[in-house]
Amino acid sequence: MRLSTSAQARGLARRRAAAGATAALLGLGLALGSGLGTAASAADASTYNGIILGVGANETQRIVTWYTSADTAQKVQVAPTSAIVNGEFPADAITFDAVGGANIATSGGFNRHATITNLKENTAYSYRVGSEGNWSTAYAFKTQDFEGNYDFLFFGDPQIGSSGDTLKDQAGWEETLKVATGANPNAELLVSGGDHVETANNETMWTSFLAPDQLRQYPLVATIGNHDVGGKAYEQHHFTPNTDRSAPYYNGDPSTRSGGDYWFIYKDVLFIDLNSNSYANPSDGSLGGDAAHVAYVTDVINKHGSEAKWKVLVYHHSIYSPASHATDGDNVQRRKDFTTAFSELGVDLVLQGHDHSYSRSYSIKNGQKENPAEQPGAAEVYPGPGGVIYVTANSASGSKYYDIKKPNPADTNPHGNGPDPLNPDSYWYNSVQNQEHVRSYVKVQVQADKLVLENLRSGTCAAPNAAVEKGLSCTNTPEGQPIGSIVDKVTVHPYHGNGQDIQVNVPTAAPGEFGWTIDGYNGLVDLGTAQEHSGQYFEATGKINPILVSDSRRTLAPWSISASVSDFRDGDKTIAGSYLGWTPQVVQAGAGAKAGDAVLSAYDDQGKGLSIARGLGAADQGHPKGTAKLGADLDLKFPNEVEKGSYRATLTITALSS
Ligand SMILES: [Fe+2]
Repeated sequence: MRLSTSAQARGLARRRAAAGATAALLGLGLALGSGLGTAASAADASTYNGIILGVGANETQRIVTWYTSADTAQKVQVAPTSAIVNGEFPADAITFDAVGGANIATSGGFNRHATITNLKENTAYSYRVGSEGNWSTAYAFKTQDFEGNYDFLFFGDPQIGSSGDTLKDQAGWEETLKVATGANPNAELLVSGGDHVETANNETMWTSFLAPDQLRQYPLVATIGNHDVGGKAYEQHHFTPNTDRSAPYYNGDPSTRSGGDYWFIYKDVLFIDLNSNSYANPSDGSLGGDAAHVAYVTDVINKHGSEAKWKVLVYHHSIYSPASHATDGDNVQRRKDFTTAFSELGVDLVLQGHDHSYSRSYSIKNGQKENPAEQPGAAEVYPGPGGVIYVTANSASGSKYYDIKKPNPADTNPHGNGPDPLNPDSYWYNSVQNQEHVRSYVKVQVQADKLVLENLRSGTCAAPNAAVEKGLSCTNTPEGQPIGSIVDKVTVHPYHGNGQDIQVNVPTAAPGEFGWTIDGYNGLVDLGTAQEHSGQYFEATGKINPILVSDSRRTLAPWSISASVSDFRDGDKTIAGSYLGWTPQVVQAGAGAKAGDAVLSAYDDQGKGLSIARGLGAADQGHPKGTAKLGADLDLKFPNEVEKGSYRATLTITALSS
């Protein structure tokens, strides 16, 4: 049976403990039932294309997605670039098994994706896809400090093919990514505003969209637009983390459409990405709804909002935009449906596409301008409680631009499209509107106590600029604003309530403390395929990834390491965690370490097994300083009524020291 290689390990980089308790996670997996033999075949002649690096569930992960010509077992192989000699990956390079399926007929071939986990910070990595003896070209990405400030870049509607000339659109898209990453080589995410292609299942357009090599070097945050949703190609090309494809978010028949709402946390920013094709009153009969999106955002923020300092939403259909779509019925409707919830949930920033023009809203609270005195184009904005900034990106490729429309002075609907009293040429909700028929992108600097937003030109009127090349006027200033020049810049200062927020940054610990870590790479603890015994029960065994404990404290205070396991899950199917037992061992003596007691599977003693915290190892007061390595043999034994499946659980490890 082919086995997964991955781990769940958010926050491993923060695992060190000077005192108190810390926890980390080990992923455990096993497979049940007879599977296909999957020994890597040197004869595998699969060819690969469309390789793209996507964002993972957090900064320690990346998801690689690709197309393959053949339905073979494939994987991603990863190694620190420093370990690669003459193009050869080292023998200990890590692999992550891929999953996927057959593509739709118009795409042909198959798709695969794999999640790279447990990346280390400040490390350059190389990766390739395929199988032993038949690897793709290698690509590279880097991680940076997992704490602190960072920049990400936001791109609106590449919509490759919409000018009528796919290659011209590709040229503009490539140039924007080249300019943006050239000016911001340390940007950590490329965030899309949707509409990657003009025609959802047109693979020629997808090939052009995926052409820039930056899409294999920087993780893309994919967003589905109205041009992407009508087929499966979007999903085949972009696998996203924590994705809920329930009908209300999916916009229709899952067999013919792509999408879903998803979230991830990247260095103190909780991103929630919505499939905004699913409307409140869908004309196509789908089950989608604005209320469902609001419920999703509410649920994610309630569960995970406290894990991040900022909350950023991304979706395609802009609700506060300046051009052709500004008066769309769904747009106006969503100013009622979305905005109060976003304010109450403490959303800081909303990134949008669809209107192929740039705008930055005033601080909007509950669907209204929060502070009537906020000036157009203000360089510093101080939203109060519930204040949200909405940004719409212009075209990143130059394939299509929409011109800014005039407000309607007769429109008195508070959620409508009346003029700004401070700037009657602009809609009441927008602080800045811009359209020059020039490619641009949005840079967001996430800093300790501010977000700095900039709209930057990535082109001029000159080619590559497909829409202009095909005859559209270009209204950049007569003297021409150069590439890299600023269209708009604002610093957004968050609201801190009446109290005082206190932040402290903690550096890496100095020697002389208690700490622990997982020894080496924290790969999946793989129990393989369970064996059936006597027609009664299944059993699978393995070993945890060893834990290294070091204690150089002068106090010689006691410490202990314990762990508990979740239930093993495969979709709706479960195996109770209590069926997991273990026998702890001191693999390498030191620091006064003594192994914890053996624990039986509940199958043997009807007890709780490792479903409750059990000691792996400990040392008493007065123990010697030093380092110990702790291990444990695992014994998973459970009744044979359990259904065939590939089950996975998480072992949570907790350290206590005083
Ligand atoms: Fe678009």
